[in-house]
Amino acid sequence: MSPFLLTRTLPVDATEAALRADVLAGLSRRPKTLPPKWFYDARGSELFEEITRLPEYYPTRAEREVLVAHAADIAAASGARTLIELGSGSSEKTRHLLDALPLLHSYVPVDVSESALTGAAEALLAERPELNVHALIADFTGGLALPGTPGPRLVAFLGGTIGNLLPEERAAFLRSVRSILSPGDALLLGTDLVKEPDTLVAAYDDAAGVTAAFNKNVLEVVNRVLDADFDLAAFDHVARWDAEAEWIEMRLRARSALTVKIHELDLVVSFEEGEELRTEVSAKFRRERVRDELGAAGMRLDQWWTDTAGRFAVSLATAV
Ligand code: AVJ
Repeated sequence: MSPFLLTRTLPVDATEAALRADVLAGLSRRPKTLPPKWFYDARGSELFEEITRLPEYYPTRAEREVLVAHAADIAAASGARTLIELGSGSSEKTRHLLDALPLLHSYVPVDVSESALTGAAEALLAERPELNVHALIADFTGGLALPGTPGPRLVAFLGGTIGNLLPEERAAFLRSVRSILSPGDALLLGTDLVKEPDTLVAAYDDAAGVTAAFNKNVLEVVNRVLDADFDLAAFDHVARWDAEAEWIEMRLRARSALTVKIHELDLVVSFEEGEELRTEVSAKFRRERVRDELGAAGMRLDQWWTDTAGRFAVSLATAV
């Protein structure tokens, strides 16, 4: 008897409509951009899991170190009966937290990847058959309609994914998280930290080329969903540190002048030789910025934990 519910707040065709709108807007502007959420089809989610095991990609291991060390503190401070995890993916990150919350009533994983959600829920329910798992297929940057599960609520947004939002998107996102919390409820936030640029660039340009394949996979998604003819071999993977914005940018650079047909949009897009398409920003943080941005959204930074090497932080904030 597995209490597992899967709710799709975004119908499949709404996902396609959102991709159409993003591709149309992003490829008509200069510089060309695409939002990073489109990396994560089944293949992209697999490639991301592979990235987390790469020697150069430290954030997953650093965050896990913090969660293992402080799961009991997080559980005690939040007293959560409902854990909502935004961008849950394989739910591997929250395992330690779930283990520290034996009285948890409901787990609400939220992700755009249905394959990741069902896989994670099956694995979790094998271990915790009494837990109510209410998975939501949703884009967490939109408003969330949450099931009526008991409080206190703890919203977890781990992996440093908040860094993939642009500053204005981040502010709106934090306000929307605050809007689903009651005073005293909490947000657990993972943020990668500013560090040596060489370390950062290597994490986004690994020697095995897995991140390059992950980056190019977004073109595969556009090819499949919108019947386009991007030639993946015609683009180079680029990872660059922007010291002023304090973020890593991933780009795809056209190796030569080329055109791409996007049949579903009746659109032909031209690239000049060397022209770059920005596919992701991954912002890196300092404590003061995290505190200020949480404060602006009505949350107070209560706890700040980092791994021993000081690469990655997990914050616990309370809704005020
Ligand atoms: C873990 C989703 C935040 O920005 O590090 C990994 C995804 N992009 N390599 C990140 C990612 C390139 C990512 N998030």
